[in-house]
Amino acid sequence: MNDLERIRGEVLAEAAAAADLDALEQVRVAALGKKGRITALMKTLGGMGPDERREAGAALNLLKDAVAAALEARKADLDRAALNQRLERERIDVTLPARPEAEGRIHPISQTLDEIVAIFGAMGFAVAEGPDIEDDFHNFTALNFPPGHPARLMHDTFFFPEREGGDRYLLRTHTSPVQVRTMLGTKPPIRIIAPGRTYRCDSDMTHTPMFHQVEGLVIDEATHMGHLKGCLVEFVRTYFEIDDVPARFRPSFFPFTEPSAEMDIGCSRKGGELRIGAGSDWLEILGCGMVHPNVLKACGIDPDKYQGFAFGMGIERIAMLKYGIPDLRTFFDSDLRWLRHYGFSALDVPTLPGGLAR
Ligand code: DAH
Repeated sequence: MNDLERIRGEVLAEAAAAADLDALEQVRVAALGKKGRITALMKTLGGMGPDERREAGAALNLLKDAVAAALEARKADLDRAALNQRLERERIDVTLPARPEAEGRIHPISQTLDEIVAIFGAMGFAVAEGPDIEDDFHNFTALNFPPGHPARLMHDTFFFPEREGGDRYLLRTHTSPVQVRTMLGTKPPIRIIAPGRTYRCDSDMTHTPMFHQVEGLVIDEATHMGHLKGCLVEFVRTYFEIDDVPARFRPSFFPFTEPSAEMDIGCSRKGGELRIGAGSDWLEILGCGMVHPNVLKACGIDPDKYQGFAFGMGIERIAMLKYGIPDLRTFFDSDLRWLRHYGFSALDVPTLPGGLAR
């Protein structure tokens, strides 16, 4: 009996002293394993008489259970300690950014386009698209450019080779053909913007052979010049994020609008620095007007019933103005330093409530 007490004391002390799970396992094997000391005592039960065996068996079972429970408890302690150690070792700062900032940047054209779509989207405009390769009808004729009209020459058009029958495709010189396609394809009321690539054979500080425009078109029974003004003034104020940008509309000419106007916004050029907003100067930013009845007719819309306005502006131009980019040609140089400098974070999606650009 005393022996059992001693064994119990020793094994419990060994278990308590086991510094890790491996050491504890060795203690268990030495006590309860196949060749363990308690197992060996159990084996002696077979050689005993019934009374002795009952007594010794009960005592041995008590010992075995007590040792097993102590080993189990120590194991739980060591497990917990090991887990705590691991948690300590693998501690992470959850306030750190989840991953390094993405390397790529959003091109200023894409950013500006997203801003434009966000602003006109909030006013109820849908986005429409058309092909870059157009025909004469959609790019010119339906837009009330009569054959031989000098305005056609002003467009510096890239033409494809003549086809059989004499007509030739061209790279669209403006986004206005999307007006035509939209009016031919849907019934009024129409309220769309059409952003996209446009092409003209021209290259200098302020022209590239490929550039972007966004077209706007509203057609219904009651829209008038006042709506045009309100809509565009609202646009420039939201886009430039200046509440009181002065705006004026100057008479102009486009074959597809009557009357036609160009919109200027206020700016100052003091000290050679261009600032949008109140100032003594004006800056032209877009063309607009009431859709010409001939255009409505060419698109199968009754000009006695329907009317509306249209506008078109250069996306590079308004991006340059907002983001202070001096040379248009640099937009398409694919210069990584330029992109890193003028580009935008991919996670900064422009929205009206969230802010357009940061
Ligand atoms: N299409 C014109 C251009 O490329 C821009 C423009 C002016 C579009 C007036 C319009 C408009 O819709 O009404 O220069």
